[in-house]
Amino acid sequence: MKNKTVYFCSECGNETPKWSGQCSACGAWNTIVEQVEKAGKSAKKSAIRNAVKACPITDIDTSDEIRFPTGMGELDRVLGGGAVKGSLVLVGGAPGIGKSTLMLQICKQLGKFAKVLYVSGEESAHQLKLRAQRLEVDSSQLYVLSETCLGNILECVDREKPDVLIIDSIQTLYNEELDSPAGGVGQVKDCTMSLMQLAKGQGVTVFVIGHVNKEGSIAGPKVLEHMVDCVLYFEGDQHMTYRILRAAKNRFGATNEIGVFEMMDRGLKEVENPSEMLLSGRPEDAPGTCVTCVMEGARPVLAEVQALIAPTGGSNPRRTSNGFDYHRAAMLLAVLEKRGNLKLSQCDAYLNIIGGLTLDEPAADLAAIVAIASSYLDKPVPGNMAAIGEVGLSGEIRSISHLEQRLSEVQRLGFTQCMIPANKSKDIKPLPNLELLPVQNVAQALQLMVRGKC
Ligand code: TYD
Ligand code: MG
Repeated sequence: MKNKTVYFCSECGNETPKWSGQCSACGAWNTIVEQVEKAGKSAKKSAIRNAVKACPITDIDTSDEIRFPTGMGELDRVLGGGAVKGSLVLVGGAPGIGKSTLMLQICKQLGKFAKVLYVSGEESAHQLKLRAQRLEVDSSQLYVLSETCLGNILECVDREKPDVLIIDSIQTLYNEELDSPAGGVGQVKDCTMSLMQLAKGQGVTVFVIGHVNKEGSIAGPKVLEHMVDCVLYFEGDQHMTYRILRAAKNRFGATNEIGVFEMMDRGLKEVENPSEMLLSGRPEDAPGTCVTCVMEGARPVLAEVQALIAPTGGSNPRRTSNGFDYHRAAMLLAVLEKRGNLKLSQCDAYLNIIGGLTLDEPAADLAAIVAIASSYLDKPVPGNMAAIGEVGLSGEIRSISHLEQRLSEVQRLGFTQCMIPANKSKDIKPLPNLELLPVQNVAQALQLMVRGKC
């Protein structure tokens, strides 16, 4: 049999029969890489096939699905209540965001009850020790190995029999049986598959670090998403101290929880109260900012929406949005122009969400409208006011879910006024020290602002 050449997108893993400059699946440029598939794999497959046997679901014992805490409450929350024994968790993120730090830090707690093997293809054992010292990780149950060859790693796992295996990072690993270079789609997929077999076969819990890189020169975690049990992304601005851990996939729990961390000089610190952190340093009585409350999983989190509206210099006004859906921002600007009579089509508009948060919930619409109008009118929104509600195309303010929970978070953080959708205001129990400002439409919200009610 002849070897077959196929082409993969290193961003999304889409397979095509021929090379092209742009991936037809995800639209990324210059990410298609060539891969030679070795012939002769089918003989091995048919040998495995004879041994397969299905069994009734009632006979399967689930009493051994053991979850264990990682020692980082925020990580446990994102994992759905701790790590599951024998699962493979992929931790993705841009280089330098803190993936190695997070993984090394959890070794502190894991080392108390489990044997951990930390394999680094990026740092030497000596460098790992220095980092561990800085993070105050000092467990005799933590073993380190600086290695990139998959065969050697699997051999070491066989010998040491760890309960938890950490791989830093998947892109440095290579299987010597394949000709392609480390970091390519084929290598990354093959190594992950072997690690997956290790996790399922021997019950080792595996954490795999994967770099996300925009240029597509190495295969990213997207290629592996479908193979692994759990995909976590570590996000945040490298220059800011907050980091947000988000689950993109979780076979053992929900994916809507986030974990918030802060990068300190001695590693990552958990932020149990994200609202306070996201609102710290907020300018008081400055135009163009408004606080809203979004649900991150089961947790309400306050976020600050900032807008800057300035007269446009050219014929085409500039529109930028950061952390807020661009198309939704454009829609809100159009609603304000039409229903609020603000001449926004002659203005540049910039929308920004503080703290690296991404708001993908319509509940943030009203705060965006208030922030935009406040910047346009140059009239500050009082520092003690928040706004929650979805905005429809006719300018109506629509109700949103979990309003009571959001309001109690707003009140807990010391806000005394909150704009809410009018049709929900009657169902809400009054909260002490929080005045509700029901609004029916955009025009009413603007009137409240202009009249100085809020
Ligand atoms: P790292 O975990 O090496 O990132 P990754 O593995 O995702 O590439 O984190 C590197 C960054 O974190 C680096 O810019 C320095 C910073 N850092 C701290 O600020 N404090 C610390 O205690 C550590 C270990 C790292
Ligand atoms: Mg690293």
